[in-house]
Amino acid sequence: MTLLYKADPERGQAWRRLFQEQAPDIEFRQWPEVGNADEVRYLACWQPPQDLAQRFPNLEVLFATSAGVDQFDLSLLPADLPVVRMLDPGIVAGMVEYATLMVLALHRQLPLYLDQQAAGRWQEHALVTANNRRVGVLGLGQIGQAVLERLATFGFQLSGWSRSPHELPGVRCHAGPEQLPAFLADCEILICLLPLTPETRGILDAELFAALPRGASLINLGRGAQLVEADLLAALDSGQLSQAVLDVVEPEPPAADHPFWQHPRIWLTPHVGAMTVPETAFTVLLDNIRHHQRGEPMRGLVDRQRGY
Ligand code: NAP
Ligand code: GLV
Repeated sequence: MTLLYKADPERGQAWRRLFQEQAPDIEFRQWPEVGNADEVRYLACWQPPQDLAQRFPNLEVLFATSAGVDQFDLSLLPADLPVVRMLDPGIVAGMVEYATLMVLALHRQLPLYLDQQAAGRWQEHALVTANNRRVGVLGLGQIGQAVLERLATFGFQLSGWSRSPHELPGVRCHAGPEQLPAFLADCEILICLLPLTPETRGILDAELFAALPRGASLINLGRGAQLVEADLLAALDSGQLSQAVLDVVEPEPPAADHPFWQHPRIWLTPHVGAMTVPETAFTVLLDNIRHHQRGEPMRGLVDRQRGY
């Protein structure tokens, strides 16, 4: 039984060690050392190799090493090939940290105070308490829910939006396009934690920004292609938005002369909201392999129709 790993090479060494120690029956190979491609039954990757189906004719499962699977063109994969995304608690923990860091920074007006320091100005502004701050999350999946749970501990007014209806304690939940405007009207800080699908591509656009309270802030932790960049720049220029925090852009990295690099109202980080943690991700992956070997359902199976 052979697994081929094609993701960050450094973390690949940790994966190799874990397989040797805990699953010696599975041969671990690391890209580009593919060996006999006919022997590869499992592929764990971030970016898939070209002609995947032709190249690995005996592939049984495609495992994403990421929570998102938009890097795969699902239409090009054999219809019966299971695609499984990574439900790594390490990814969730990283995203919760990042979202909390940025929500607190925006809530406590850090962008304004950093500007004031640069201008040598000592000026206090009214403090808004957490229970008077409205924070909303687009996407109520494993990450959106974990972020909301942590934010609840600060006492924020919380709301969320998803495709299907949800009920979460302490969160005003909205679902579907028809409930999007009501959700947005309540978001002074909006966090995007949606997967990239045809429905969510370009969702962060002028119409969405216009539905937010004036001066709202955006944190995009989903995917860069969900953002209409020109609409963001216009919303920041007009004051409709006061700040954007972008962990993801399309493409990554942006060109050297891209306006996001120098924009005074944009904080940009290089897709580091979370990283797959080999130790925790390995347990999840191995568990899924064992389930597959026993013919049992795997966790994180992607629904090809929904695209996530
Ligand atoms: P998930 O568990 O699949 O949850 C996705 C959520 O989005 C679900 O609540 C789903 O609604 C909702 N959704 C999907 N399409 C929608 C639509 N058209 N309209 C409204 N809601 C929609 O995903 P996750 O594990 O939380 O991850 C979310 C995304 O975060 C990933 O896909 C990835 O793009 C991003 N991510 C980024 C980083 C980073 O480092 N920046 C790291 C990890 C993940 P239902 O609940 O109704 O299905
Ligand atoms: C990272 O972006 C992920 O989807 O896990």
